[in-house]
Order: sequence, then C-alpha cells, then structure tokens
Amino acid sequence: MAVLPSFDMLLFGGTGDLVTRKLLPALYRRHAAGQVSADSRVIGIARSVLSREQYLNQARATCQEFLGKEFDEGLWEGFSAKLDYLTVDADVSEHYAPLASKLKGREQLVRVFFFSTASTLFAAFCAQLAKADLITPCSRVVLEKPLGHDLDSADQINQSIGAVFHERQIYRIDHYLGKEAVQNLLALRFGNALFEPLWRRGRIRHVQITVAEELGVERRGQFYDQTGALRDMVQNHLLQLLCIMAMEPPASNDPDAVRDEKLKVLRALRPIKGADVTTKTVRGQYKSGAANGAPVPAYLGEKDIAPTSTTETFVAIKAEIDTWRWAGVPFYLRTGKRLQERLTELVVTFDEVPHSIFEAPPSPESANQLVIQLQPEESITLTILAKNPGEGMRLKPVSLNLDLGETFKVKILDAYERLLMDIVKGNLTLFMRRDELDAAWRWIDPIREGWAEYEDKPKLYTAGSWGPAASSSLLGRDGFAWHDEL
Ligand code: BG6
Repeated sequence: MAVLPSFDMLLFGGTGDLVTRKLLPALYRRHAAGQVSADSRVIGIARSVLSREQYLNQARATCQEFLGKEFDEGLWEGFSAKLDYLTVDADVSEHYAPLASKLKGREQLVRVFFFSTASTLFAAFCAQLAKADLITPCSRVVLEKPLGHDLDSADQINQSIGAVFHERQIYRIDHYLGKEAVQNLLALRFGNALFEPLWRRGRIRHVQITVAEELGVERRGQFYDQTGALRDMVQNHLLQLLCIMAMEPPASNDPDAVRDEKLKVLRALRPIKGADVTTKTVRGQYKSGAANGAPVPAYLGEKDIAPTSTTETFVAIKAEIDTWRWAGVPFYLRTGKRLQERLTELVVTFDEVPHSIFEAPPSPESANQLVIQLQPEESITLTILAKNPGEGMRLKPVSLNLDLGETFKVKILDAYERLLMDIVKGNLTLFMRRDELDAAWRWIDPIREGWAEYEDKPKLYTAGSWGPAASSSLLGRDGFAWHDEL
C-alpha cells in the first residue's frame, strides 16, 4: 500500500476509550505497514495534565493489550516517536497556544482534528480552533457518533461546525461503514447482476438486520445510560446497513452518488409516531442472566447506571420504506447488549413458490433465504430446497455456503484503519453527510417521543437470551420469525 500524505492527527478525547483502544492501535498498524510517513505526527489531546512520557506509557499499555501478538518493541519505538500529548480544556483559550506552536510551519500538511469526546464539546473546539487560526485549507474534522441526542441538538452542533469547516472537510464517522464486510455488501449488490432483478417487492418477503452483542455496557455506563441502544446503534449502524441493503444502484462510487442514494432511503422511511411504537417497536432492558457461561448482573446493577434507569439496551423495530421497490416489504431491525451471542447478520427472505407440485405445501421454512453474516465471521449463505434422499418427493432446505475469510485468507483491515486512511486521503464515500444524519434523527426522534408517551418502561429480558418475548411477536404478528427462531 502506498505511503499516505504526511499528516498531523489531533486526537481530542486522547485518553478516552476510542482513542486508546481503537485509534492508536489502528494508527500503529498503519505505521507497521509502512504507510505513515516519517514526518507525520499523532497528538493525543485531553483535559488530564500528563507529560508526554506519561501519555506514551499509557498508550503503550493499551496498545500492547489490544494488539496482543502484533505488538513489537521495535515498531512501537518508531510509532511512539511520532506520538505526542497536549493538555487542552475545550473552553480555555490559552490551552490552544501550545497547540498552535506545535503546528506552526506545518500548514501544508494534511491536518486532522478527530473529535472523540462528547459531542457537546464540538462547538467549543471549533470556535477555539478558528480563533487560534488553526484551520487550514488542508484541514479535516472527524466527528464521532452519536452527533447530538436528537435532531435539534445535532442541528446546532452541525451549525457550529459548518461555521468554520466546509462540508467537504467534515467526516462524520460510522465505523460500520469501514468494515470490510459492509464493503462486501456493496460488492454483492452492485458488483453482481444476479441479485438485482430479485431485489424488490414481489420477490422479497422481508429483510432482517440483527446487530447482537454479547457484551454489556462495560466501562461506558455513564455514556450508555444517557444514550441507549436507539441512539447508540439504530440511529447510525443499523440505519446505515438498512440503507446499503435498500438503496438504488448509485451511478458511481463517488461520495455524493452513494450518499444521495442512501439519503433517499432514509427519507422514504415511514415515520413511526405516537401509539405506533406499541406495535412497531420493542424496547428492552436486560436483567441478570449469563454471558459466556458465567452469571452477569442486570443492567441496573452495572457501574454508573442509575438504579431506576429506563434506558433501553435492546431495540427491535419494524421499518417500512415507502418506495416502488420496497412498498409492503418490512425491514425488521434488532440490536441489543447481553444477547446470546455476538452476531451481525442480514437475512433476506424471498417469496415462496406460488404453487407447490411436491408433497408438502410451502411453509416459512421453505422460502429461499440469503443470509449475509458480517460478524463474527464473514459468510454468505443461500438456502435452496433440495430433494430429501429416498422415496417420494419431499423437499428440504440446504445451504450454498461461502466463507469469505476462508476464500481470501488475508488479514482484514480494522474498520478504523480503513477510515483513518480515507480521512488522510480525503475520501468521503464512507462518511455521513449532514442531510443523511438529519434524516436519520428525523426518523428516530418520534420513536423516542412515542416511547415517552406510550411505553414508559422497557420490557425486561434475561441476559444471554435473544431479547424480550415481544421481539418474537413483532414478526410473529406478520407470520414471520427471526432467523435464529426458525
Ligand atoms: C459502537 C457502540 O458504535 O459500536 C458500542 O457505541 C458498540 O456500544 C459498538 O458496542 C459495536 O461495534 P462492533 O464493531 O464491535 O460491532
């Protein structure tokens, strides 16, 4: 891979989870691959008063933990020479002067401001960076999700960012878009002519999108309790997956060609308003149970969670897209923490045969299914019906399996590695445009409002299960079942 243009990458929230567990290991790997030029620099920025040496020690410990066997002393020496730290309190103007002097004379390099803090601080960062005259034409700003907590707050943040950065300099990150498997979904849909004629109403009965996690809220209780699964996962990752599944073929792979098509899907989502939430959504919270064979506490017993919290750790939604292609085809979305296993899976269920000439009549299990597993393993499975050996003509579903890991046998880039490289290269295709984000919030906000009015408490589910029973009924009412229940 080619060496990237030289850059200064400023990681705001430099002592936080994302920077230490994801961004620094990702940059280390790119350094190890020889892609980071010798004069590039990575500067962690946070409120804590730390010396460069202390920061390097912390960074080294987390990188070692997360990189495991990949960590190499020699490589770390080279990488850490590029690493620096600065104490900056968002609102304190004087703290930006040392940053300005570090960046002086480097105005021609790509400059990346990566905001990995609560989005309430983004406006202050922007105002101070502009005041200190640190935003150059080669600057980019990267915004971590969730951006705001509803449409209004996202709008305000976008306005303050838009006041100092041009839209083409703004990279709104959704790390799911950087996953190899999600890219593969684009390849499957738009690199093959096979599926396109079938990819519509009249051919597809329904689509399921599951992003299940076995983990609980880990060390992020405070953040999570204010956020919940709807904002943490559905507003971004699940809606982006839905867009890729449902979008029309873009005319090219250019950022705006792709983003225009995704936007059309978001705008065509039928609003779920008021009492609709009781029939089209399920909101859950885990109680104690088991994970990995060991007992785990209820959400309410986790660190930093309010004892009476009604924050949801599970959401299932029946989404409908009002377009010619998708009218009448439900897209069922489901995500949750402390579910039975870690699994990201898209399931497309095709129409059954209109009339069976064989012994058993068509049943839900006999519909052809395309199962695209994105995590933990990447695979594509197509179920078709074959004759059960022996007497008579009884049919049985069998699978055509493609294990993508086995097929390519190469190390897969982590989502953040790809996205960080795209940012430095200036490629916006995998980042969300402002109008996409607005459209996503516009669909999400009424669901939250509906919950406040009609469903004040989440339904409990046992940690280690597949969520509340109501999640099965959501599909059951339409005569369907989740893939794991078939
Ligand atoms: C993040 C959420 O965006 O995605 C986390 O904030 C979640 O709560 C994570 O655990 C899941 O990402 P992945 O890549 O592990 O599927």
